[in-house]
Amino acid sequence: MDVIDVIKAKRDGHELTDEQIAFAIRSYTEEQMGDDQCAALLMAIFLNGMSRRETVTWTNAMIGSGTRMDFSGLGGPTADKHSTGGVGDKISLPLGPLVAAFGVRVPMLSGRGLGHTGGTLDKLESIAGFNVNVDSERLRAILTDVGVAIAAAGSDLAPADKRIYALRDVTGTVDSVPLIASSIMSKKIAAGADSLVLDVKVGSGAFMKDLEQAKILARTMVDLGNDAGVETSAVLTDMSTPLGRTIGNALEIEETREILAGGGPEDVVTLTVEFAERMLAAAGKTDVDVRAALQDGRAMDRWRRMVSAQGGDPDATLPTARHQHDILAEEDGYLGTLDALALGVASWRLGAGRARKEDAVQMGAGVRLHKTLGEQVRKGDPIATLYTDEESRFEPALDSALPGIVITQEQPSAREVVLATVEKQN
Ligand code: URA
Repeated sequence: MDVIDVIKAKRDGHELTDEQIAFAIRSYTEEQMGDDQCAALLMAIFLNGMSRRETVTWTNAMIGSGTRMDFSGLGGPTADKHSTGGVGDKISLPLGPLVAAFGVRVPMLSGRGLGHTGGTLDKLESIAGFNVNVDSERLRAILTDVGVAIAAAGSDLAPADKRIYALRDVTGTVDSVPLIASSIMSKKIAAGADSLVLDVKVGSGAFMKDLEQAKILARTMVDLGNDAGVETSAVLTDMSTPLGRTIGNALEIEETREILAGGGPEDVVTLTVEFAERMLAAAGKTDVDVRAALQDGRAMDRWRRMVSAQGGDPDATLPTARHQHDILAEEDGYLGTLDALALGVASWRLGAGRARKEDAVQMGAGVRLHKTLGEQVRKGDPIATLYTDEESRFEPALDSALPGIVITQEQPSAREVVLATVEKQN
């Protein structure tokens, strides 16, 4: 088989055969196909799409490029959750311990932030001593003992996706439904949980700006998961405005502790409970009072045990930034817009995120919101506080944040956090 024939077939709008797809993924992973050829193939896929069969085969080939984890020896159901990425999205942090409190094991293999969306691992590393690099033996031990672990995905989890994703990033081929779906699902299926709930974000701060496109992506991923034997469903959630009141690593850990102590912002609690109920239902537990476990300390207890098991100090004082700057309301009215992308980029520019994989992040940097969408404000009220270790970062952060904060004279209608769901097809 010849790589050029595979590229030409997709270029000319034909469906690739299973053999052609397996050959392409193998050749690129084994470095027999060059970046130039793979880039051409990805662009042809971007322009012409892939059928359901092609997407399944492409996903399976990426799973097969590494090892599929197996938690069947743990002697109970396992459940996982994945978010397509948002601003202030710390749901995984309270969710994992909450689900574990009901006896369902949660192996969460997470990623780092890139661009304006934060990464779960960066957030956890703001806790002194917390170690995200857990080998599979230790992961199994923590899951047996505590029931939840949040760790970095090992290099053997869908390695083909790592190479292909890096190439997509620099060739304008990221935002293609079959390529996003196969990228995410190859890693999630290989991660080995029995069930998976997907949080597909929609809005300015998300990959998918439009609900209809997001539904197509969700349906593609839900079908890929279920076809591979992982009980999968998706919830489409609003990402036009940040989740909760904090954006940034240590700031989001602080809010996580509030949620686990039975408080915290209602939008974060609502989604945490929605995802927990779905994960527990997939594990056969439907008659459970999830909110009670946030109120009575059971979820907090699991969180503290997980942090300790991964080398962290659950009572550690969190890092704070050296400088802060308040954004004040310029007139009376209602907070009509609080744009997720504008505030996510601001937080990133303050130092909470990275532009390149090798960049370091500032643990205390980010944004704290004092008002939420639709709230009444008076001239001079603080709307948000920006945090950073380097004062020179305020100006570019304000350039992004200020146009995203709009005061209106009419109160905007109440925000729906859950926009739609996509269930397993029978
Ligand atoms: N996240 C991934 O892992 N892959 C994509 O293609 C997009 C988001």
